[in-house]
Amino acid sequence: MAKGTGIGSGRKSEKDLKVRVKSSKGRKIGSTLWLQRQLNDPYVAKARAEGYRSRAAYKIKELDERYKLFHRGQRVVDLGAAPGGWSQVAAQAVGSTEANPLIVGIDYLDMDPIPGVILLKKDFTEDDAPQLLIDAMGGKKADLVLSDMASPTTGHRPTDHLRIVHLVEIAADFAIKVLAPGGTFVAKVFQGGTEHELLALLKRHFAATLHAKPKASRAGSAETYLVARGFKGADGGD
Ligand SMILES: C[S@@+](CC[C@H](N)C(=O)[O-])C[C@H]1O[C@@H](n2cnc3c(N)ncnc32)[C@H](O)[C@@H]1O
Repeated sequence: MAKGTGIGSGRKSEKDLKVRVKSSKGRKIGSTLWLQRQLNDPYVAKARAEGYRSRAAYKIKELDERYKLFHRGQRVVDLGAAPGGWSQVAAQAVGSTEANPLIVGIDYLDMDPIPGVILLKKDFTEDDAPQLLIDAMGGKKADLVLSDMASPTTGHRPTDHLRIVHLVEIAADFAIKVLAPGGTFVAKVFQGGTEHELLALLKRHFAATLHAKPKASRAGSAETYLVARGFKGADGGD
């Protein structure tokens, strides 16, 4: 807490102010810890106060501050969009409206509507998903493809690793197919999860490829973000 903001000698320390959740009979220890973390997370509180549906909104905001991702009038695809934080940020940043929607989001989970965002309820790994997204954009190219997709973990490390790699690979293939020259691809990856082959593919197709971990991404989590900028065009990498 900053100096001068205390409330006298009875002031509680930050440690005391932390909400502690007692484990109850029906609740597993993992859920108790999750609840405790949510209740004490400044990004959760900020998202609630500022009207964002997820704390994840601050990850894309931070990446935007660092890499100037969004510009007015751009078309954006949001893969793994639920509950909608990234789509909200994107819609505001590019000036997307109901009359001229510039954002298309996809998730297999239900989502409440977001003004200026076309939402598809669909599994992105299904064969017809890419074409449905292209159709939703009226056949136009995208300037940004964002993927925050993550599958629920099984606890079986090799399986989880393969699933993560597969999601990033199909997101990258899609980005290469739909991006306009100069476009950007941002994807959640996990440390040790970005395969050499995928990096090599991106390096061929983009002018610059880097990894970034926003502050809003929990320090203990292995997640990090891959940012590939300056798309060379569909034939650029061949
Ligand atoms: C971390 S959340 C995304 C949070 C989002 N960026 C936000 O700001 O609200 C990951 C999402 O990816 C979705 N997802 C994972 N695999 C998917 C798939 N194959 N197709 C569509 N969505 C998928 C999950 O349902 C989940 O909603």
